[in-house]
Amino acid sequence: MRLRPATSADVALLEAWSGKDHVIASAPTEGPFDWAGEVPRSVPWREILIGEEGARPVGVVVIIDPATEETHYWGEIAPDLRAIDIWIGEEADLGRGYGTGMMRQALARCFADSSVTAVIIDPLATNVRAQRFYERIGFTFFERRTFGEDDCFIYRITRESWDAQKPGYENLAVRR
Ligand SMILES: CC(C)(COP(=O)(O)OP(=O)(O)OC[C@H]1O[C@@H](n2cnc3c(N)ncnc32)[C@H](O)[C@@H]1OP(=O)(O)O)[C@@H](O)C(=O)NCCC(=O)NCCS
Repeated sequence: MRLRPATSADVALLEAWSGKDHVIASAPTEGPFDWAGEVPRSVPWREILIGEEGARPVGVVVIIDPATEETHYWGEIAPDLRAIDIWIGEEADLGRGYGTGMMRQALARCFADSSVTAVIIDPLATNVRAQRFYERIGFTFFERRTFGEDDCFIYRITRESWDAQKPGYENLAVRR
């Protein structure tokens, strides 16, 4: 697995993935994301990254700085954090270890910035499978929060716990 920046050539695929039932189910009240407008726009508070297995795109990771992200989705929030959104594009690629590989690399990327103290995630309270996925990666439950109509569980991984777990990560094989 590797992560690379999304380009305009990925827009059609990103739009198609956004229409998949399992993606919509994870964020049902969010309107369609303007991939065509946002992918080419370079901003300091966001990275849109494609997860590839070999040369094949399998999913997307969006990393933001929640304190400076322009819509202020996270509201009042401390500096020096990162927030991640992640999904696998095709149903057939769910549960094959790709998400774990993508998240591991996304966390390494976040914590490579020495100012970053923790990474946060906001699965729906009902998205128990995603919560289990995050817990296995080392996130822990932080608080329950409502965003608009969405009842969410905020999970967090601190730099200390990432540093403590990192050696084990290197031994985690990608499942097939
Ligand atoms: C969450 C997600 C990114 C994990 O990636 P993945 O490649 O499927 O995960 P892995 O194969 O590395 O790990 C397997 C675990 O992922 C989770 N998972 C698998 N399918 C899932 C699905 N449809 N929805 C949510 N989580 C799922 C489960 O915890 C699973 O473990 P389990 O088999 O013991 O239940 C991916 O499943 C996905 O895109 N889900 C739908 C969108 C979503 O819920 N995104 C998170 C929003 S906060």
